Amino acid sequence: MPNRPSRLVIASHRLPIVLFMEDGELKVIHGAGGLVTALKPVLTLRGGKWIGCPGTVPGARAEEVDRILAETRQESPFELIPVHLTEEQHRLYYEGASNSVIWPLFHDFLSLCDFDGRYFKAYEEVNRLFASTLASHTDEKDLIWVHDYQLMEVALHLKDMRLHRRCAFFLHIPFPSPDIYLKLPWRDRIIRALLEFHFIGFHTVREVRNFVQCVKIFEKDALVRRRGNWGTITLGSRMVSVGALPIGIDFRHFDRLSRHPAVRARAAEIKNNHRGRKIIFGVDRLDYTKGIPERLTAFELMLERHPEMLKNVTFLQLLVPSRETVREYAELRDRVERRISSINGRFSQDDWVPVIFMSRSMPQEELVAHYLAADVGLVTPRKDGMNLVSKEYCAAHSDLSGTLVLSEFAGAACQLQRGAILVNPNDREGVAEAIYQALVMPEGDKRRRMKILRHAVRRHDVFWWADSFLLAASGKHIKDFPTAGD
Ligand code: ADP
Ligand code: G6P
Repeated sequence: MPNRPSRLVIASHRLPIVLFMEDGELKVIHGAGGLVTALKPVLTLRGGKWIGCPGTVPGARAEEVDRILAETRQESPFELIPVHLTEEQHRLYYEGASNSVIWPLFHDFLSLCDFDGRYFKAYEEVNRLFASTLASHTDEKDLIWVHDYQLMEVALHLKDMRLHRRCAFFLHIPFPSPDIYLKLPWRDRIIRALLEFHFIGFHTVREVRNFVQCVKIFEKDALVRRRGNWGTITLGSRMVSVGALPIGIDFRHFDRLSRHPAVRARAAEIKNNHRGRKIIFGVDRLDYTKGIPERLTAFELMLERHPEMLKNVTFLQLLVPSRETVREYAELRDRVERRISSINGRFSQDDWVPVIFMSRSMPQEELVAHYLAADVGLVTPRKDGMNLVSKEYCAAHSDLSGTLVLSEFAGAACQLQRGAILVNPNDREGVAEAIYQALVMPEGDKRRRMKILRHAVRRHDVFWWADSFLLAASGKHIKDFPTAGD
């Protein structure tokens, strides 16, 4: 096919779907999570292929999964190609290497790491499996865009297979500073593997700086240049580019949803259900990086310090269960539930319950109605690559109401610092006061801040991000950069 235009092929650990069994029949629904929410509109617009794991469903055979994915092709502008893992691979590569080593370490939770030697072998094996799947579904003209920490070795395996592919990588989570990165037992291999990509994107300048500092430790002869958002690493005759490109959301989609009469009506109904009390809203995957117990404690402290808020504010926390087979996640769920019942036990009065906890995935219309109904968006991760929830909260406030309280350790803080109230999530008094400030902020200030926030989220949306990434991956120059920190 000599004249076929270049195709985009995405590889990520997870396909943008969730499979489940209902009445003995295999069903498929849309997946949640930052990576999926960001990439789906991009591939929907451009077409192409998406390679990843479909997830495991007890009782479903691989052929059945392949069949249902092939069926989705009829309504979808892009093709889903499954990579099937064995139970052992899932345990050692996904639960082990990815989520018990790389995830906690890169988020600065060293004490939660379990450096089991078998994990890395499985990591290599699964990355090789992804590379061979890519090899059979791509040709030299395609651009392969690999995503996230689960797949940092794919380009290295493609090279070992002597396959020539344009291959770029984006890391959706933080890249740690050298003192943390050096704790990784497989540190040199991962750095060298990453350097096999032609272009490597990170969310912020801090990540670019951390990465090039680590490169200098392991590649003494590398010539490293870095200026602002950009850097190049020359290794003999080869050059690898790196850049800070903060991911965005589909602003117009959220904005449009928030103006829809049915969504507005639902938002009014939610407010009404809470009898006109102020609403604070949190939305997270149930993950220790999101700072949920700490956030609850700060809310409790706010109630303690500002008794006039008793019966006048409700904290709605939506949590989507995540990685439940990893021990830390199961423990976190218990901890969060205990904190909530202790706060509710202490403060509930008459018909007022201070914290309402919902544990499920919400359809987007319902999610936007909640964003819109919320006077305060409370986003306080202890560390986060970007955090899309903070951007969605702003995009949903087309009425310019609402105040965002945001952790300074979320990548999004680089872009949203002028309109949000920034907090250090470890400073519970500071977070408690920020929540109070947000609740009593005069209307004029809220509107002014929300305008600034919405401008930032609109200007650098997910299409800007994807276009810029693809330009950068083909060596082209990008002009319009947001502030991405330093
Ligand atoms: P992460 O990528 O770590 O999960 P982000 O904040 O970047 O965190 O992205 C989370 C994404 O998942 C957002 O798009 C958010 O709307 C979606 N999401 C999170 N929890 C839920 C939920 N309970 N129901 C529906 N969508 C959710
Ligand atoms: C974050 C990560 C993604 C991951 C998602 C959901 O957004 O950056 O790579 O897919 O969380 O986590 P899960 O382990 O369920 O895929």
